[in-house]
Amino acid sequence: MARILVVDDEIEMGNFFKFFLEDKNHEITVAENGLQARDALQEYFHLVLLDLKLPDTDGITLLREIKGRYPTCEVLMMTGYSTVKSAVEAIQLGAYDYLEKPFEDLNDLEAIIERALSRALARRELREDEELTRRKQVLKSVGFVAGKSEKMQRLLTVAEKLAAKNITVLIRGETGTGKEVLARYIHAVSSRSEEDFLAINCGAFTENLLESELFGHEKGAFTGAASQHKGIFELANRGTLFLDEIGDATSAIQVKLLRVLETGEIFRVGGEKPIRVDTRVIAATNAPLEKLVAEKKFREDLFYRLDVVTLVLPPLRERREDIHLLAEHFLKLQCEERPLRLSPEVVGAMTRYDWPGNIRELANVIAQVTAICDGPIVLMEHLPSKIKEQDTYESAPLQKSLPLLTPEQKWIDAVSASLDNFIEQIDVKAGFDLQAFLDSLKEVSNEGAKKIIERSLEASGGRYPKAAEWLKTTPRVLRYLYKEKK
Ligand SMILES: Nc1ncnc2c1ncn2[C@@H]1O[C@H](COP(=O)(O)OP(=O)(O)OP(=O)(O)O)[C@@H](O)[C@H]1O
Ligand SMILES: [Mg+2]
Repeated sequence: MARILVVDDEIEMGNFFKFFLEDKNHEITVAENGLQARDALQEYFHLVLLDLKLPDTDGITLLREIKGRYPTCEVLMMTGYSTVKSAVEAIQLGAYDYLEKPFEDLNDLEAIIERALSRALARRELREDEELTRRKQVLKSVGFVAGKSEKMQRLLTVAEKLAAKNITVLIRGETGTGKEVLARYIHAVSSRSEEDFLAINCGAFTENLLESELFGHEKGAFTGAASQHKGIFELANRGTLFLDEIGDATSAIQVKLLRVLETGEIFRVGGEKPIRVDTRVIAATNAPLEKLVAEKKFREDLFYRLDVVTLVLPPLRERREDIHLLAEHFLKLQCEERPLRLSPEVVGAMTRYDWPGNIRELANVIAQVTAICDGPIVLMEHLPSKIKEQDTYESAPLQKSLPLLTPEQKWIDAVSASLDNFIEQIDVKAGFDLQAFLDSLKEVSNEGAKKIIERSLEASGGRYPKAAEWLKTTPRVLRYLYKEKK
């Protein structure tokens, strides 16, 4: 049994949920406005069903209060179509999901409430684990490397929730940030994943050709239309259609797109009767749509229709912590048969570089590098000059996000890079004496230490106190180590 709070100013809604959920043995409290809700929230609820529009406050404000005070309480927003945009914002603020009013399918409604509840109840942590594992599998299947950055993880959470809905999604982001990969991911986690994902670039055709590609044409619709032809909207029926570079669509095409999005119907070129399509549209652009709207190059109504749910992919320079991981990913992809490592300097320079072409540029750089590097380790000399040039002038704010390596860390990184490279080549099945390996490893590190001490003694003219000062230890320890290692 769970405690559920319903906050809605429509009395019928409260009554409906009382009837619907008490039947399932839950304890229901109803509040008609913010005041009553805050009063009720003196106590803990497992789940709050929260209307976005309330007479004395708004759902988003209340959501923030609830999540601030009771982080494990799950909140389901309730929304009419006009407020879907705020509902998406709510998910970004931690709402579990949103329900669109009127509720069309009570089974769906029940399922989503049960899911939110089971999360709010004991299984919270377990579910998160399961969700993460599932996320990893699907990410892998579409070749999407998510990385560790908070920004990207949050974006994926929102994307997954949106994937379950049938709404149009607009993906924005600079060139090469992975808009198409994200679209594929949304398709792969949606209930349409068994159907097709088709993509079309709105900038790659003339207006007439694009229209016929999108909507198809009837036989004889224009010269050359020898037979009937299905458009991509029809071909992607029940699946997902990715409209890339939507900012490039001409105004005639924009009108037609708006109509499909609003009615779910298309007309083939030269066709008389509308054809219903159940195609989920994901659009993408890196164009400044607001500016295009202001210049009357992009229809305002289409913009608002698309902008209801927008996901913005961050440029690579805003998630520098993921650069190394992505670089390793492409390195693995591109030279499967020949393990290659990046030297610590190379990782440093790549992490500091701004990547105007984002992930695509990174993939290209790795491809170039693997072509010219014939040793086991990628060194600074293999990098394209643009990366080295940017790296020569120190830009203070960038340095801040990347702690400078101490000389010891650099040394260890270099050793472990070449060690990793060696380890990957070991054929364990052929037999490998682990203990002998560890003993030799120890010998190598002793040898290294001895050489460092010798060099310090040489430089200090044999004076232990000076050498110890440089090596950040005491003369006694140094003598001991040196003898031990001799
Ligand atoms: N998260 C990611 N993990 C792995 N590879 C990625 C990722 N994001 C992008 N890529 C790769 O980078 C390249 C560019 O990605 P994509 O085509 O999706 O970018 P885009 O945002 O659509 O760029 P544009 O605006 O130029 O069309 C592709 O080769 C893609 O496989
Ligand atoms: Mg693209």
